[in-house]
Amino acid sequence: MNKKIVVAALLVSLVSNVWSQTKMTMYKKADAPQISRHIYGHFSEHLGRCIYDGFWVSDTLGVPKKDRIRLDIVEALKKIKIPNLRWPGGCFADEYHWRDGIGPRDKRPRMVNTNWGNVTEDNSFGTHEFLELCTLIGTEPYLSANVGSGTVEEMNKWVEYVNSPSSSSVAQLRKQNGQDKPWNVQFWGVGNESWGCGGSMTADFYADQYRRYATYCRDYPDATLKKIASGASDWNFNWTETLMKKIPLDMMWGVSLHYYTLPFDWNKKGSATVFDEPIYFTTMQKALRMDELITKHSTIMDRYDPNKKVALCVDEWGIWTDVEPGTNPAFLYQQNSMRDALIAASTLNIFNKHADRVRLANLAQAINVLQALILTKGREMILTPTYHVFDLFKVHQDATLLELNFTSPDYQSGTQKIPAVNASASQDSTGAIHISFVNIDANKAQTIRLSLNDLKWNGATGEILTAPAFNSVNSFEKPNQVSITGFSGFKKEGNELVVTLPKLSVVVLTLK
Ligand code: AHR
Repeated sequence: MNKKIVVAALLVSLVSNVWSQTKMTMYKKADAPQISRHIYGHFSEHLGRCIYDGFWVSDTLGVPKKDRIRLDIVEALKKIKIPNLRWPGGCFADEYHWRDGIGPRDKRPRMVNTNWGNVTEDNSFGTHEFLELCTLIGTEPYLSANVGSGTVEEMNKWVEYVNSPSSSSVAQLRKQNGQDKPWNVQFWGVGNESWGCGGSMTADFYADQYRRYATYCRDYPDATLKKIASGASDWNFNWTETLMKKIPLDMMWGVSLHYYTLPFDWNKKGSATVFDEPIYFTTMQKALRMDELITKHSTIMDRYDPNKKVALCVDEWGIWTDVEPGTNPAFLYQQNSMRDALIAASTLNIFNKHADRVRLANLAQAINVLQALILTKGREMILTPTYHVFDLFKVHQDATLLELNFTSPDYQSGTQKIPAVNASASQDSTGAIHISFVNIDANKAQTIRLSLNDLKWNGATGEILTAPAFNSVNSFEKPNQVSITGFSGFKKEGNELVVTLPKLSVVVLTLK
């Protein structure tokens, strides 16, 4: 072949390769916020098989247990360093009476769980059991108290029961029940979805109720409470506005926000595993709207709280699909696919970028419910693709946010476009830099050329989560179809990093 043609072809390929690269720059802002580890939090409700037959199993189940707490689950959650766990709901919280869940188990009253399938709740898993679970995992409890059908006295006494070192009769009762020292729980939710299942309140009415409840939730010597107001869902900006206007800033640590990604809508949510590329595209498009939601709620908060004293707590988020065929529709048991992993990773990147305002979040829910980390069947247990994302992203916990500037290439479906790539970066206390990249494009790899400016590094290591298809899953038969592997698709060119992200991938690089 003519040498000139070969050289020309090589040049064309080199130039088009460089052109098709996405340029990204990284820098550290002088006032860079810390990424709170609490945005990596989780949620455990008395719903379906999250608590019963999830965390808390029968005496006779042949798995390692402490009391009835499943220790293989504890170990798995320890590994990904879950920073906090929210309990007992959700909607369940506003019908839960904590006194029913203490003392000898055979004397605890039974109730019907009206929110979730009218199953009998025997209250065998109560305050002591939950706080023991948190101790075993090494995670901070986040207790969600009953405002909808409870009383101020009930919440006030729950805080006292859990946190008081005194010899008051409530603290004595805790001691009689086997817990001498207070647990010093800091995170307290004052109601849940108070606009809906938590009491159908108006924003004005709830704001007044919040002020009352919060007044009587006392701090104790080793527990300064972080009270979280029950916030808006989705696009209900009036709710956030009213709370910020009516509640004094020093009366609340945070305001919550709930946002679920529905492939279709609340009537027909769509399958967790059977979907085509247009449905995949729409689902990702909806998940990415978390960025817009946080921006808009934060803008409202900024007007009342320019110094960002109050945290925005996205204490329920994740994909909500139809239940697995043949399972109880009220139990919300759904499979988890590579799509879930891409949603989780993209959402965590969004939270990281909003670290100045978002300081706590909880994926719904930890075990066997909605976008779960872990699915169980009898003694068996599988780690979902979402679990692996939290494993990869744990390096960002409490690290300092680094800024990334770039314009993502488009991922297109029909006439619609969404960003194919999202990313976030942080620097930990040892100086190591961590970058989490997500390529949601179902068809194309994406190459990034990252300029690190003044941030110096000598070498990198990488890990990847990817799968052949957006609906690839881990099943009980094949539990490791979607799992983390080593990644070497990057090179150092001077102080620049060139990385190629395969289609449908989550890549985390550590630069030292
Ligand atoms: O996570 C399931 C439910 O979704 C919660 O109980 C409720 O708060 C929300 O509507």
